Amino acid sequence: MFVVRSTGAWRAWRNSCPHWQGTPMAWRKDAYLTGDGRQIRCSAHGALFDLESGLCTLGPCVGESLTPVPLIQTADGHLEVDLGDIQETPQ
Ligand code: FES
Repeated sequence: MFVVRSTGAWRAWRNSCPHWQGTPMAWRKDAYLTGDGRQIRCSAHGALFDLESGLCTLGPCVGESLTPVPLIQTADGHLEVDLGDIQETPQ
């Protein structure tokens, strides 16, 4: 998974592109965003994704979305994955 912060909110996504499930998104370690930091970019074929919704807006999987990972921010500011809301990926 990877985590991004946008408009003051933290969001997490599975590190798997909807174009080819299982394809990691980063083009190098911890590099998930476009140069201007306004979109998520898949390294494989360049699909672009909205930071807030995870929706693919350009590329081979337009209309598909990244899979969200639910987060909880604790009172002391730490982020935790909300395991109660994790859904298994169909095989
Ligand atoms: S695998 Fe991500 S755009 Fe093709």
